[in-house]
Amino acid sequence: MRFLTYDELQPSMETTRAATNIGSFGRFLTPREIRSWRSHGAFAEYVGVFAVERGEVVGQTFVSRPPYTYPDGSRGRIAGVALVGSRPDRSGRGIARQMIEEVHRREREEGIEHVALWTNRSWGAHGVYERLGYRDVFLNPFAVRAVPRPRGRARRVSRTRAARRTDLPALDVLHSRATRGRVGFTPRLPGTLAKQAAMDELDAKKELIVVPRVGRTRGYARVEVDHDRIRCSELLAEGPTAARSLLDALEEKARGRVLAWNLSPLRDLRSELEARKYFLVRAGWYVFMARSVRHESSTAVVRGALGVQDPRWTVHETDRF
Ligand SMILES: CC(C)(COP(=O)(O)OP(=O)(O)OC[C@H]1O[C@@H](n2cnc3c(N)ncnc32)[C@H](O)[C@@H]1OP(=O)(O)O)[C@@H](O)C(=O)NCCC(=O)NCCS
Repeated sequence: MRFLTYDELQPSMETTRAATNIGSFGRFLTPREIRSWRSHGAFAEYVGVFAVERGEVVGQTFVSRPPYTYPDGSRGRIAGVALVGSRPDRSGRGIARQMIEEVHRREREEGIEHVALWTNRSWGAHGVYERLGYRDVFLNPFAVRAVPRPRGRARRVSRTRAARRTDLPALDVLHSRATRGRVGFTPRLPGTLAKQAAMDELDAKKELIVVPRVGRTRGYARVEVDHDRIRCSELLAEGPTAARSLLDALEEKARGRVLAWNLSPLRDLRSELEARKYFLVRAGWYVFMARSVRHESSTAVVRGALGVQDPRWTVHETDRF
């Protein structure tokens, strides 16, 4: 078995790359998407590690490089392991382990300090990562409230509107302003929201709500809206008034449905959400795991190094990889 980088794959391997990707995730990361995110600076130079056996791709791992601010204020990048998959007919033969070990080797050589990933604690993959030294550093708590339907005519109190594509550059700038001095996933690569929209990974009108003001936008929320619930995993605001406007707007939108909060919005708005009688669940299934690329260490040590329990830690939906 060989472990190749994206550029080392032959055109003849594209079909088995697709079989591996579709077999593991039901979708295919196209060359166009890879090219586009690569030119944005989102991937490691080698893009990922691919296990190849007799000319066929049998495993894949993509590696993103999100910018990261450490608790002492120093800035760097971490390695984000994503879309780890073995072709289903080749599982249990050490493919995932060897691909990830190859990622660690490459990242050490590049001088990267930490490697991280998101996974579900109830999946087999979680056990694979634990064996490879990853720790559950953030258990992704969430808060939920069934928002009652108003009696009689509903009064609209919030002053917000759906975002437009033309808002996105300003929202990217707002993110950097609102997370200045914080720890974790900040500052973002410039133009990340605009890029996601260009790649059809974000529908500004459906997923973003903004607090407009003459001259400049004061805040925005990114939401996932379904017939039964609304979930907010990203809210950036300049000041408590803009944050409260967004909270009010989402509660209005959620009337008769459930409204859920997680990631930084939950931490940042915790006391307000408690006052509004949200129910808090201290751990979700989908967790953030990490380790040093140099040595294995305890959960407490990795949490401390990444500043995950620091109240300044920032992580939003757009930062997930
Ligand atoms: C998860 C997945 C990548 C594992 O790939 P794999 O090639 O079968 O894994 P490996 O054979 O390399 O296993 C690595 C280690 O984890 C162990 N392991 C494998 N499956 C496990 C499980 N379900 N629970 C606990 N440990 C497990 C193996 O025994 C092995 O341990 P060892 O190195 O001490 O021998 C594969 O099952 C897959 O592609 N799943 C679908 C996509 C997916 O869920 N990806 C993860 C998204 S976060």
